[in-house]
Amino acid sequence: MDRVYNFSAGPSMLPLEVLEQAQSELTNYKGSGMSVMELSHRSKLFTEIITGAENLLRELMHIPDNYKVLFVQGGASQQFAAIPLNLKKNGQADYVNTGSWSKKAMKEAKKFIEVNEIASSEDGNFTYIPSVTADKVKSDADYVHITTNNTIEGTAFRNIPDTGDVPLVADMSSNILSEEIDVSKFGVIYAGAQKNIGPAGLTVVIVRDDLIGHAVEECPTMLDFKTHSESGSLYNTPPTFGVYVAKLVFEWIQAQGGLTAIQKRNEKKANMLYEYIAQSDFYHSPVKEDSRSIMNIPFVVPNHDVDATFIQKAQEEGLETLKGHRSVGGMRASIYNAMPVEGVEALIEFMKKFEKEHQ
Ligand SMILES: Cc1ncc(COP(=O)(O)O)c(C=O)c1O
Repeated sequence: MDRVYNFSAGPSMLPLEVLEQAQSELTNYKGSGMSVMELSHRSKLFTEIITGAENLLRELMHIPDNYKVLFVQGGASQQFAAIPLNLKKNGQADYVNTGSWSKKAMKEAKKFIEVNEIASSEDGNFTYIPSVTADKVKSDADYVHITTNNTIEGTAFRNIPDTGDVPLVADMSSNILSEEIDVSKFGVIYAGAQKNIGPAGLTVVIVRDDLIGHAVEECPTMLDFKTHSESGSLYNTPPTFGVYVAKLVFEWIQAQGGLTAIQKRNEKKANMLYEYIAQSDFYHSPVKEDSRSIMNIPFVVPNHDVDATFIQKAQEEGLETLKGHRSVGGMRASIYNAMPVEGVEALIEFMKKFEKEHQ
């Protein structure tokens, strides 16, 4: 079967070139006679892979020297606990509630720290990003936590809040590497790999040096930033194959022209879809215009009874995983970096045809 256009929210599409390179090297990596999966994580070849991956990520995101890059496991969900365990000082933290993932982050943090919900869009069913101004931030908060892109609701921060001296922590799972960002505005950035980085199982944490080494005493060794920072992410066996595929993805992003080019293409894809939805009387975007994500685009039709038909017919045409999250309903197109413009064009063509048949 030919490859499909996969609109899944994650794990999601990887660039075909990356998959083909991994395939070509699968059984014999660089003449070693071994797969990357079989290489010792302390071997010379794997050392080249992990340092190469880190250097490429640093280059792509312009990560300043006073930040460490950690390759860990446990997903973004594990960072929900690691963040308070590493950053707790005064005992309270500010959270911005922008949807399901923010709520999960807050629920977990409450086990370790007092959580202040300083802004929320729950009153609008999370269809917008609430304003977060410096005066809302508690001066003795240990950190402010935001979810930069809300995978389920399809919203994203278009401006990064200024939190003054209080470190800003971001769950960037669904928009890391999708556009240029200024890393120096953040204390910690974390992301599960399975959208724009590589296979599930790898988690990337970017953390400013001064926030390392202050974990609470009872913090498990594996959740302490210091453990991974001091060992170059080699305290125990890292997700080696995931790091290898991530390196291939970083090389692919570089070959596309880096984040400036990637951002331009992502904006083009998102605009194409939003513009089509805007002129249609049939489809509707539930998200406020100034809060729209360029990665995850939910849309609804007037009669929910046709949702299942839409999803099934789309699938028959090679357009996969368009079902909206159960908490939002309707449809959702996740168009991460690896989704080509042609995939979005094919989706719009299908939507036009479906609109004609069901209006
Ligand atoms: C914004 C966001 N945060 C956190 C998570 C959870 O990530 P993980 O499955 O890596 O724990 C996801 C997963 O889709 C997500 O989209």
